[in-house]
Amino acid sequence: MKTDQAATGFRLRCIACGASLDSPAQDFRCTACGDLLEFILPERGYDAAALRATWTKRRGSRNGLRRRRLGKAEFSQNELDQSGVWRFRELLPPIPEGRVITLGEGNTPLYRLPRCARATGVANLFAKHQGMNPTGSFKDTGMTVAASAAHAAGFRWVACASTGNTSASMAAYAARSDMRSLVLIPEGKISWGKLSQSLDYGALTCQLRTDFDGCTRILNELVRQKPVYLLNSVNPFRIEGQKTAAIELLEQLDWEAPDHIIVPGGNLGNSSAIGKALLEMLDMKLISRLPRLSIIQAEGANPFYRRVRELGEGKLESARLKPMKAETLATAIRIGSPASWKKALRVLRATGGEVEQVSEAEIAEAKAEIGMEGIGCEPASAVTLAGLKRLRARGFVKANELVVLVLTGHLLKDPDFTIQFHRGQLPLGGDETEIRQAKGLQRAPVVLDADLRPVMAVLEAAERA
Ligand code: F0G
Repeated sequence: MKTDQAATGFRLRCIACGASLDSPAQDFRCTACGDLLEFILPERGYDAAALRATWTKRRGSRNGLRRRRLGKAEFSQNELDQSGVWRFRELLPPIPEGRVITLGEGNTPLYRLPRCARATGVANLFAKHQGMNPTGSFKDTGMTVAASAAHAAGFRWVACASTGNTSASMAAYAARSDMRSLVLIPEGKISWGKLSQSLDYGALTCQLRTDFDGCTRILNELVRQKPVYLLNSVNPFRIEGQKTAAIELLEQLDWEAPDHIIVPGGNLGNSSAIGKALLEMLDMKLISRLPRLSIIQAEGANPFYRRVRELGEGKLESARLKPMKAETLATAIRIGSPASWKKALRVLRATGGEVEQVSEAEIAEAKAEIGMEGIGCEPASAVTLAGLKRLRARGFVKANELVVLVLTGHLLKDPDFTIQFHRGQLPLGGDETEIRQAKGLQRAPVVLDADLRPVMAVLEAAERA
């Protein structure tokens, strides 16, 4: 697989042994030591003010199809400018323009969360809602770059192992080009919303009788034997695209760094990407200080949390991650052997962030609270608010600080979880207080006879409550 990155100054480097590569192997592992690869930006002077101005100008570009006919090239240029990913293309590995597959991803809202702010005792609390991407999750920002790289390299098939969102995103981007997609998902452990997406977008969808980690193992073997392009987040193009969420966030905050950014941790690609963006932005003086990046896991799927806690200040080089059998109702992050844990540990340390774990009841409660803001998210995203509460209780996050939660998936991704929660049918693991608090937010639908009187009665009862 050839890339022309070297010509443009973008380099691929192994995160462990530092070996440079210009053409990665099919499994995106270092051919010398087997560890992960990362892109290194060209060592040119970046002019922060000029970059900001270019990015702002692109955001305002229009197609104006009615006023004048745009040529194909001009139209695709405008499409790139309007994408909340390609708008920042100076910091992305270059892809020939005609090969870019975009769905107008990124450009996601930054919402204030006033009720959650009051409940957590934080002065300024925001949500960067990556669930507002075209397929309803943050995966689109990385997928547009990595799927485009596959397209540019002439691949016919792309593939991923997934807990549901990567597969939905991959299937959509493959469908927008002439590529076919192969999805490996754990049987019975992904939400219907996500499964239905990959079916409708035309993926060849295999539900394997194993978990996410089992799907990953099989896919890694497959890509070594077949010319299939791997689109999991070990693919460094994915990480580069996902960086843009942090760049766009800082642009929305007028380049003033928040004190904390809090993300969910599953396979740990997203935290690595956001951390990489923060470090690069500091380096090129787009920001003048680093936010602390904290990572939250579900208690039943917490291999990273455990490892970081055991390691303390210990050396990264001596670290090994012990895989576990993961179990959580936040199926998106039901992962026992996260691929990008070393990258994540580096950015955690570089930014001075923390790692936390939260119970099932805390996740369900936090999800309902984010819903009460009129925003909502999927369960895996809600670990951020649950984690913030723990970080507040420990004194790591202070009352006067500005905190941004990264919400990774849309509420409609997993309606079963939501309905079961409100009907009181969700098994809520946690201590008694956590379970009681979560139950306090349940709003089961009321089934009534088709008559005005009972409707009036419940309305009046609700007014009195
Ligand atoms: N939130 C959601 C909604 C996710 O879908 C995922 C991962 C994460 C958080 C965790 O991000 O893996 O980068 O640490 N979903 C993957 C998938 C694994 O296959 O859709 P991470």
